[in-house]
Amino acid sequence: MSQIEQAVAQHYTTGALTERVRAALKASGVDPDAATVADLKAGDEFHTGGVLATDNLFTQLSPTHATRVLDVGCGIGGTSRYIVDRYDSMVTGVDLTPEFVETATALSDLVGHSDKASFHVGSALDMPVPDAAFDLAIMLHVGMNIEDKAGLFTEVSRTLATGGTFALFDVMGGDVDEPLAFPLPWSSVAETSFVHAPEVYKDAAAAAGFELVTENDRTMFALEFFEDVFAKIAESGPAPLGIHLMMGETAPEKFQNYVANLKAGHICPTEMIFKKTG
Ligand SMILES: C[S@@+](CC[C@H](N)C(=O)[O-])C[C@H]1O[C@@H](n2cnc3c(N)ncnc32)[C@H](O)[C@@H]1O
Repeated sequence: MSQIEQAVAQHYTTGALTERVRAALKASGVDPDAATVADLKAGDEFHTGGVLATDNLFTQLSPTHATRVLDVGCGIGGTSRYIVDRYDSMVTGVDLTPEFVETATALSDLVGHSDKASFHVGSALDMPVPDAAFDLAIMLHVGMNIEDKAGLFTEVSRTLATGGTFALFDVMGGDVDEPLAFPLPWSSVAETSFVHAPEVYKDAAAAAGFELVTENDRTMFALEFFEDVFAKIAESGPAPLGIHLMMGETAPEKFQNYVANLKAGHICPTEMIFKKTG
């Protein structure tokens, strides 16, 4: 693991995460040992818009039970459980942060997905999976921690069968090229944040043999989503189960800075879907 990767994994490690998720479920009135995929949703999709964003991406993908899916930077496995639950696909998740992989495994076992989903510690630049073993690779809010976009696309291409799809949803650079306000959900400091313009992704993808299928700017969706979240918090306080459990004590500041950067045009949450042609 490189020094940057070590620092990234440390950023996401908040301690005793599985136990805190279980406690939050209990505080929400859910028996942790009988939790369903739906019960976990408020706290296990660590990206802008949570499951609403996942829904939007997957309506464009529609995998089947036969689709072999790779979840690059799977976090605690929320999106992987969504895929198994909705489409019955086999999912392999890879993530840099050991605590996330541990929690992903525990929560997927809890909802009965042990035979459909597996999670492994590893870097997106050197994944512990075979060549051409997947039909669909997904990556949600991970690229902001990876400087080497060319290496990332080359590695994802290695894992996909020809004709395979790579669907991603990342926070990319906006029209206004100014320094970002930190801390942010993916990094507390500039040194481990690599927010790149959409062109950087598209160039890296083309060089790795991908063809762009769709590109969607999700800024308006993100602004509306956060307006709704902040209104709900103002009305009834934060819910016990939420992605704040993975963000440490500075979670409120991270959310505020995210929205400030978004409103200032410094960042632009963007979906891209590619096909592997080579
Ligand atoms: C904001 S979270 C998103 C997690 C998950 N994709 C989701 O949407 O719930 C970013 C994730 O990327 C992982 N990550 C960051 N850099 C990585 C790398 N180089 N290789 C693998 N995973 C990485 C982190 O450990 C973290 O779990």
